[in-house]
Amino acid sequence: MSSVSSPLAVWEKCDEYHNSFLLDADPAMDAALKNSEAQGLPDIAVSPAQGKFLNLLVKTTGSKRVLEVGTLGGYSTIWLARAIPEGGLVTTLELDPHHAKVATENISNAGVADKVDLIVGPAAESIKKLGPNSSYDFAFIDADKEGNLLYFQEAKRLVKSGGTIIVDNVCRAGRVADLEYSDVLVDGVRTLLMGIEGDKEVEATTISTVGEKGYDGFLYAIRK
Ligand code: SAH
Ligand code: DHB
Ligand code: MG
Repeated sequence: MSSVSSPLAVWEKCDEYHNSFLLDADPAMDAALKNSEAQGLPDIAVSPAQGKFLNLLVKTTGSKRVLEVGTLGGYSTIWLARAIPEGGLVTTLELDPHHAKVATENISNAGVADKVDLIVGPAAESIKKLGPNSSYDFAFIDADKEGNLLYFQEAKRLVKSGGTIIVDNVCRAGRVADLEYSDVLVDGVRTLLMGIEGDKEVEATTISTVGEKGYDGFLYAIRK
């Protein structure tokens, strides 16, 4: 390998190589990404490898009821919905009606519409109406980063003891830890971390990720 390869090219190649062995051809997922791009959605869904990782986590935990904050075109939603058994539900919250329309198409095309409840509106409002408390097994938080701490606190209310809460985009190519740097995205992650510090109701760790979506990370928490 050339020593001048950029890290992203190296990470992309690594994802591509591993995916070629571990991820099946997936026309429904390909169609979802294509339709999302054609309708102008930003290219910020989780990567295929990350989507499958979320899918495997849901299966490992035996989760049946999943909360997602931030649907976009439903790419991660489809990975989550595929992991839950018949009778399970993914509740997914999305602000943007256009994103929600595209997601509805993609979710339906993937054959998982019966497992997904998409709620359109500001997640800060939608999430407060969900319940009862402790009625979800798993939460994936991936919307506006300013809302991270609020979504995390509501996810703690909604996820039962022993359940899982994952937060996307907590490293942002190292910018979160670069205290000279500030924007609303990284500040939202810092606020989340400060809120979790000393919180006796969760145990959490961050696992950094690299791949075709660059260098970022998942915060992984267990609701005690
Ligand atoms: N989970 C998706 C990606 C989500 S991108 C995937 O991996 O496939 C973030 C999404 O959060 C965008 O669609 C954006 O419109 C939505 N969003 C931003 N602010 C929001 C808010 N206040 N409430 C709900 N959704 C919001
Ligand atoms: C952004 C948001 C995401 O959820 C993501 O995975 C990547 C980027 C963003 O707003 O820039
Ligand atoms: Mg994300």
